[in-house]
Amino acid sequence: MKNIYPNIRRAKNYLINDDVVAIPTETVYGLAANAYSNKAVKKIFSFKNRPLKNPLIVHYYKLEDLKRDCILNSNFYKLYKKFCPGPLTFVLYKKNNSKISRFVNNNKKTVAVRFPKNKIAKDLLAKLNFPLAAPSANIFSKLSPVSATDVKDEFGKKIKLILDGGKSRIGIESTIVDLTDKLFVLRPGGITIEQLEKTLSCKLKLKSQTNNIKSPGQLKFHYSPGIPIRLNAKYAKKHEAFIQFAGNVKNKDNYFSLSKSGNMQEAARNLFTILRLIKKRGYISIAVSKIPNQGLGLAINDRLKKASKK
Ligand code: TXA
Ligand code: MG
Repeated sequence: MKNIYPNIRRAKNYLINDDVVAIPTETVYGLAANAYSNKAVKKIFSFKNRPLKNPLIVHYYKLEDLKRDCILNSNFYKLYKKFCPGPLTFVLYKKNNSKISRFVNNNKKTVAVRFPKNKIAKDLLAKLNFPLAAPSANIFSKLSPVSATDVKDEFGKKIKLILDGGKSRIGIESTIVDLTDKLFVLRPGGITIEQLEKTLSCKLKLKSQTNNIKSPGQLKFHYSPGIPIRLNAKYAKKHEAFIQFAGNVKNKDNYFSLSKSGNMQEAARNLFTILRLIKKRGYISIAVSKIPNQGLGLAINDRLKKASKK
């Protein structure tokens, strides 16, 4: 494998100069910039064409650094011990003297934070004296990228540097848990709700879309491959691609299986790649079979449901 260290140094230089770079994480690739710099953070929004009211996640390397920016509580510590670094994002109250740019969280009192596990992301963060604000590295409302090629597909030559960390191990975004008031899961993701409940010894509710948006990531038109998606389908119509959850695909080019063995981790890892591939092959729509709504299946169904909204 190519030596990544010269590129990590280049990334550091860009970031110090308020520029954006794409970084691998274990969930999906992120479009990263200095979370303490207004100028850098504003660049993320314009680069992605993302509305400023949709707040970003801040990525940290060390707990000590997070302590300077956020108010931590006992639920946080329980989850941190068990799942960090890893695919879990916490919504916490921001400290008054925190250096996080107000553009990160649209001036809200709360901020979303996480500790990525990917080695390249960690090596880069360890070299910086600021955390990284990073949304998924895709144009607003499009599919999240899970490889360096996917990021290139999204931004083309516009992006100056993509740190190539291969394919994202989890392939679906982090779970977002709101720890500020009553506990809520705001987005199902790489850590299952069952895992969180076990660690916190309580039941957790998934907060569905409301007008009082706590997580504007719950907007319509999210995760769109750019063609219509039909859910709970049994077969493909003419010119349609078909995604099945498990088993071998029929001997037809337009059938795709998320995991031949029916393994949920594998299915999550393949989801965005298969959606992107189908779009590239020129199909005009996608039919998806029913997917078990348990464990990571909840996150898969959440993304498919949002992608299928017209
Ligand atoms: O796995 C991930 O979380 C990836 C990688 C790159 O870390 N990032 C990611 O970022 O998925 P993004 O911007 O695509 O999604 C961030 C979500 C959005 O739904 C946003 O609304 C929510 O986090 N969010 C951010 N700050 C929030 C806050 N203060 N309160 C509630 N939700 C928040
Ligand atoms: Mg996103």
